This record gives sequence, structure tokens and C-alpha cells, in this order.
Amino acid sequence: MDTVAILVAAGRGERMGASRPKAFLDLAGQPLLLRTASAFDAAPAVTGIVAVVPRGLEGDARSMLKAVGKLRAVAPGGARRQDSVLEGLRHVPDGFDGVVLIHDAARPFVDAELILSVARAADEHGAALPVLPLVDTIKRVRNGDVVGTLDREELGAAQTPQGFRFDVLGRAYEEAFRDGVTLTDEAMAVERLGGRVVAVAGSSANVKLTTPADWAWAERALLAQEGRA
Ligand code: CTP
Ligand code: MG
Repeated sequence: MDTVAILVAAGRGERMGASRPKAFLDLAGQPLLLRTASAFDAAPAVTGIVAVVPRGLEGDARSMLKAVGKLRAVAPGGARRQDSVLEGLRHVPDGFDGVVLIHDAARPFVDAELILSVARAADEHGAALPVLPLVDTIKRVRNGDVVGTLDREELGAAQTPQGFRFDVLGRAYEEAFRDGVTLTDEAMAVERLGGRVVAVAGSSANVKLTTPADWAWAERALLAQEGRA
């Protein structure tokens, strides 16, 4: 099976509050995007990688990623996440018969096992993503007042990589853009058409680095793992 990973790294990283987009920030000795790209490069299920970065930083990204053997293209991103994904999809050849994996560059702890389980489920069922069960009780809150308790058994946290047969995502994206829908993740484009999306087991290690506290935690974890702390 041919599997292309699109790493979306074109966000502004506003919640990180740094002067550069977070994909380019040094995380315990290596830029975030390089760490994430290396995880996909090392995953046997992945045959190609496309990185989507803020417009104007394509050259910087190419030099950052020069050791990533499976890198096929670096593309400039767009204003919304779905615009960045679309720019990445342009680098997948027409008629591509395999699976595309859309992954947050901000999740560097993804591993080959999770990548394989999403790719396999997407190949078999058309669309798949990792979902993590919730551990906390979830409340509905309105203007500071708790107005209900949700059934946790039916809820889960969506992670990436989200995987799709290329034709399935292509069609769903075309319709979402035609209908003017804003997507919060890629699977939503398939869900809204009634398409099947399979949940595979998510990984608690596969956290998204969003805030400076996440970043500090990740640096400590990496330094400990690499025996430098
Ligand atoms: N992303 C993207 N293009 C956008 C928005 C987001 O490629 N227009 C990417 C980000 O670079 C990130 C991933 O989507 O790897 C998940 O988004 P998030 O964690 O929200 O990152 P940012 O949008 O960069 O951060 P913030 O929302 O704090 O500005
Ligand atoms: Mg964002």
C-alpha cells in the first residue's frame, strides 16, 4: 500500500506565544517539525511525506528537512487548517490509489505502530483516526453554571494521524469547500456526508504541543528519554 503523510505545520502557534511558528522552534535540540517528520520517515508504512509550512518559510523548511529521505514536497499553507491540508493534497498525484495520512506537526511523539494501525484501517474502511477515551467526567457548562453531565462512554478525544483513501478524502474535501463548511478536523468532512470513519485506539503519548506548559513537559520528557537530564 502506498501511503503519503501530509504534515500540517502552517499554523501561527499563537497559544505558544513565541516569536516564530512553533514548528520551527527548537524542542530539546531539534526543531519540532524535524522531530515529527523523522517519526514518519522511520515508519515502514509511510512511502512519502509532504510538509505544509507558513508561506515564506518553504526554503527554511527544506533545509531543516534535508535528512528526511521520504520528503516529496514542501508546500505553503493557508489561513485555515483545511486550506493547509488542501495545499498538501495538491502534491499527491491525480489518481493516487493509496492512503493519505494528515498529521499535526505539533504531535512529535507519534510512533510507527499508531501510524500503521491508522493506515491499515483507512485502507480497509476508507477513513480512520485515533481516538483516546476520556478519563474525566465531562460537564456541559453555560455561563459558569453546570447544566448537565455527558455520557463519557460515547465520547472520545480525536488525535492525528487521520487516514483516508485518497479518493474518499478528495471527494469529501471538494464537497466541504463547495458547501462553505469550516472543518475542525479532516474526518469531519467524511462524517458530514455519512461516510464511515473508524476509530482506532489512540495513544496517550501522542500529545499535541499547544501551550508553553506542554512544551516544557515535552522537553523534560525528551531529555530524560535521551539520558540528558
Ligand atoms: N495548522 C496549519 N495551518 C493552519 C492552522 C493550523 O497547518 N492554518 C497546523 C498547525 O501548524 C499544527 C496543527 O495544524 O501543526 C494543529 O494546530 P494547532 O495546534 O492549533 O497549531 P497552531 O494553529 O499553530 O497554534 P494556535 O492555534 O495556538 O495558533
Ligand atoms: Mg490552531
